[in-house]
This record gives sequence, structure tokens and C-alpha cells, in this order.
Amino acid sequence: MKGLILSGGKGTRMRPITHTAAKQLLPVANKPILFYGIEALKDAGIYDIGIIISPETGEDVKAAAGDGDRWGIRITYILQEQPLGLAHAVKTARGFLADAPFVMYLGDNLIKDGVAPLVDRFKGSKVDAFILLKEVTNPSAFGVAQLNGDGRILCLEEKPARPKSNLALVGVYLFNPNIHRAIDEIKPSRRGELEITDAIQRLIDTGHHVDSHVLTSWWLDTGKKDDMLEANRVVLDEMTDVCMDGQIDETTRLSGRVHVGKGTKLSHCTVRGPAVIGDNCVLEHSYVGPFTSIGDNAQVGHAEIEHSILRENCRIVDFHGRIEDSLIGANVELTRSHLKPVAYRLMIGDDSKVEVV
Ligand code: DAU
Repeated sequence: MKGLILSGGKGTRMRPITHTAAKQLLPVANKPILFYGIEALKDAGIYDIGIIISPETGEDVKAAAGDGDRWGIRITYILQEQPLGLAHAVKTARGFLADAPFVMYLGDNLIKDGVAPLVDRFKGSKVDAFILLKEVTNPSAFGVAQLNGDGRILCLEEKPARPKSNLALVGVYLFNPNIHRAIDEIKPSRRGELEITDAIQRLIDTGHHVDSHVLTSWWLDTGKKDDMLEANRVVLDEMTDVCMDGQIDETTRLSGRVHVGKGTKLSHCTVRGPAVIGDNCVLEHSYVGPFTSIGDNAQVGHAEIEHSILRENCRIVDFHGRIEDSLIGANVELTRSHLKPVAYRLMIGDDSKVEVV
């Protein structure tokens, strides 16, 4: 069985962060989201993995994941020139997939229990496609499935205005090679994309066997800022250990599950876990609260941060304020100004959001 991870697309919902970074490389608990997918496939015994990349962010994805050696897997990169849909991505990967059954994993999704049990169930069955569903409160934002009384799928619709159920399609799909013919037989949707949802519906319409499983454990689609913070919260909440590779002075208090990376120094700080602080950071006179991830090389002084993600190389010094519910990109600087007149002086990228008190 092969794996296909989709790490192309435009990432428009995560701008401005995705003006400069692939959304699949954004960190959850200081690890790129993409790596959770790679590890889930590897844990399911899948060692031959294709990754769909885009011309804009493909080189960064390649640099981050490499050839797969570090996981003992083989990664093949497949360039999709334009984000023309999930089924288009499968079409683009046809040469790599050949006639193998495969797991398709959306590179911005995270699921708690991984994919190993699903792969075992799929391998032992004669189904053509196996999909995962999850009850959600906002089904219009997803592909939606309608099931009959015995759990068989009646129909699937992509982001319907009037959803027929609250069961969303999760971004993990298992297919045998019959999916390729179904993809050849569908047309682009109203939004101009070749939808995998339509290809699965085509399998159903042509008498193929499509099975589903409704997840009860967590699933996260990290499309927007609040989804990222929720993913960070859930993953940090599952952290069970304490890990101290850095140095703390005698006035610093750590409580709960906290990871401190190599070369990191904390003085006059309070850290309440679950929280992770990366390598080579300097934190002084600061408070780091639960559900916070601080990337490598951060400098934090006189600041309070809680329930937030800071990417690498951030400088928050002499801040004297509290940051909550925030996603802060790489190389960001936040400081207090002593210049007159007293004013906010900002250099903020397109599509940014700032809330002040
Ligand atoms: O997250 C689950 C949802 O994923 C499903 O419920 C929907 O049925 C499915 O269509 C998909 O919807 P999204 O709107 O969330 O898909 P998105 O455009 O965010 O793309 C998902 C991933 O696939 C993301 O990592 C980018 C990548 N991608 C996307 C497109 C459209 C590609 O690699 N190539 C593409 O052409």
C-alpha cells in the first residue's frame, strides 16, 4: 500500500502567515503539521509516500521533510502546477501510485488515533473506497455524507449550502485503483475544482463498494487560526512528560508538563504547562501559560503569553503586556516604544489581524 499526502494548495485561509510559508509546515506543538501525517502513515506500515507540492511552497516542503530517511521511509515529491482540486492531485500522482491501493491524507489534517486500524480494516475487506466521517457543528464547511439507517452512504456533497447531515468527510481516504477511472469520469465543480467527493460519489453511482467509519476521537482540520490554536491545545494536552534540555535559574518556576529545548535559558520566569519552548531561546521576567508553543531562537522579555503559537526567531522584548489566542509568524518583533508621540507603530503584512486594548 502507498501513501499520498496533499501538501499543495494555496492556503488562502491562513494568510498572512501563508504568504511566506506552506500551511502544512506551520507548527503544532513545535512540529510541522505535515510530519504528523507522515508519521501516521509510517505507523500504519506505509513506507512509500508521495507528497503533492505546489510551485510556490514545494521547495520549503522538500527542505523540511527531505527524502524520508529520518523516518526510514521513501518520499517522492509530485509537483501539481495548479491547485485544481483533491481529485486533480490524485490524477497528477497517477505515475507514482500506479495500480497500488493507497491512503490519501490531507496535509493540513490531524487525527488522534492515526490510520493503522483503518489500513488493517481496508486491507481485510473488498471495498473500493473507505472514508472517515465525523459529526461537526458546521457541516457546510466540509464535504458532507448522508447515510441510510444501516450506515450505508446514500450521497456525498462538497460544502453544501444546505447540508443533509452533520457528518463531515475527514481528510483521510483509502482507495483501491478503481478511484482513477471515477476521477476520469467527473467534471470540475462550480468552484472549478476536481472534487474527490464527486469521484467517490461516482464510485457509488457505478455500483462500487464505498464504506465509512464515524470517528469518535478528535479530528482537526487546521484551515484557520483558531483551528491551529485548537490543534496546538489538543496535542499539548496529550503530552504526558516533562523534558528539560535547557537551563533555568533559581527564581524560575515550572509547573505541569513543560518541554524546554537545548540551549534555552529561562530566568525570572513562570511557566505553566502544557507548554513547549524550542531550542536556543532566551526568556526573562516572563510568564508562559498553558497551551503555548514557542519556536526555536525566541527572545521573550517582560511578556506574558498563553494559549498561543510563536513560530521561530520571534523577539518579544520589553513588552509589558499579555498575549493570548495568538498565532505569530516567524521573525516577528513586538516591543514597547518609548518614543513620543505615544502611538502604535506597525509594519504588518497584507491580510493581518491585530486586536488592541
Ligand atoms: O479537511 C477535510 C475537508 O478537506 C473535507 O471535508 C472536504 O470534503 C475536502 O474537499 C477538503 O476540503 P478543504 O477545503 O479543507 O480542502 P483544502 O483546499 O484546504 O485542501 C486540503 C489539503 O489538500 C491542503 O493541505 C492543501 C491540499 N491541496 C488542495 C488542493 C485544492 C492540494 O495539494 N492540491 C489541491 O489542488
